[in-house]
Amino acid sequence: MARKKIALIGAGQIGGTLAHLAGLKELGDIVLFDIAEGTPQGKALDLAESSPVDGFDAAYSGTQSYADIAGADVIIVTAGVPRKPGMSRDDLLGINLKVMDSVGQGIKQYAPDAFVICITNPLDAMVWALQKASGLPRNKIVGMAGVLDSARFRYFLAEEFKVSVEDVTAFVLGGHGDDMVPLARYSTVAGIPLTDLVKLGWTSQERLDAIIERTRKGGGEIVNLLKTGSAFYAPAASAIAMAESYLKDKRRVLPAAAHLTGQYGVNDVFVGVPIVIGANGVERIVEIELNEAEKAEFAKSVKAVEGLIEACKGINPAFA
Ligand code: APR
Repeated sequence: MARKKIALIGAGQIGGTLAHLAGLKELGDIVLFDIAEGTPQGKALDLAESSPVDGFDAAYSGTQSYADIAGADVIIVTAGVPRKPGMSRDDLLGINLKVMDSVGQGIKQYAPDAFVICITNPLDAMVWALQKASGLPRNKIVGMAGVLDSARFRYFLAEEFKVSVEDVTAFVLGGHGDDMVPLARYSTVAGIPLTDLVKLGWTSQERLDAIIERTRKGGGEIVNLLKTGSAFYAPAASAIAMAESYLKDKRRVLPAAAHLTGQYGVNDVFVGVPIVIGANGVERIVEIELNEAEKAEFAKSVKAVEGLIEACKGINPAFA
């Protein structure tokens, strides 16, 4: 059986890390695309030269031509600009919207059957724009945010409880912004909800609230430390988990920005909800029961995403 083909649009910090992880996990052959001449070619060669050491087989190539993504099974999009200290994800809107337009055209022309994972920020609005520009069916395009946000939440919780990260599950709903909704009721340590762990005295409500706040601001914390860009290891690992679920038909249940068409009372918006990812892409959108407070927080987060989508339509009426 021929190897799968993975195209990475954007060969920057996240793109390079994606290429490395995809190789190490032998997910397929990898094409790196970037407008910066030499960058994808250089990273492709460097990574290929690491393969004998780590003992994996994958063909790597770098390109400036969309024709080379033809036949890709999975495409992961990180093209665009990342945040600098003091910037919100929303500040990236104007520049990255143009990028989504050109990436969408490239995918439409050369790889319309791929499963596409968008990482470019502001995430929920950019994946919405990428779907419009590419015309991909809604089961074949998702945004990566929830796996990352819940990984941050899980890590902070594992530190708090001094238990393995493996035994902590966490759910984060809503947009990938400061209004995201980490759900304590649906987050657990080995199946025990956080709300029960507070009652059992494992932590206090105040400390849990502080962890939730740190999760919401998790991306900004890294931007402030790095100063020259934003997080890339955890975002790349998160998108690879989604790609792997698709390529191996694992049907993992993961939070991701999916195209809602009435679920949760939301229409034509991409926003973070639990989905099942399998060989058909988005196999299912899971509608969980929310209490009144959670509904209000989710609605606030959706409203923020809708505001960004309106701004996109204002910048480029072709998206309206
Ligand atoms: N087409 C292809 N590649 C592009 C385009 C374009 N139109 N415009 C920019 N790029 C490339 C840049 O040349 C750069 O190599 O996208 C790459 C982005 O890489 P980095 O600047 O290192 O950014 P990174 O940290 O990888 O983040 C990428 O993901 O998490 C989000 O907010 C983040 O939007 C940002 C994106």
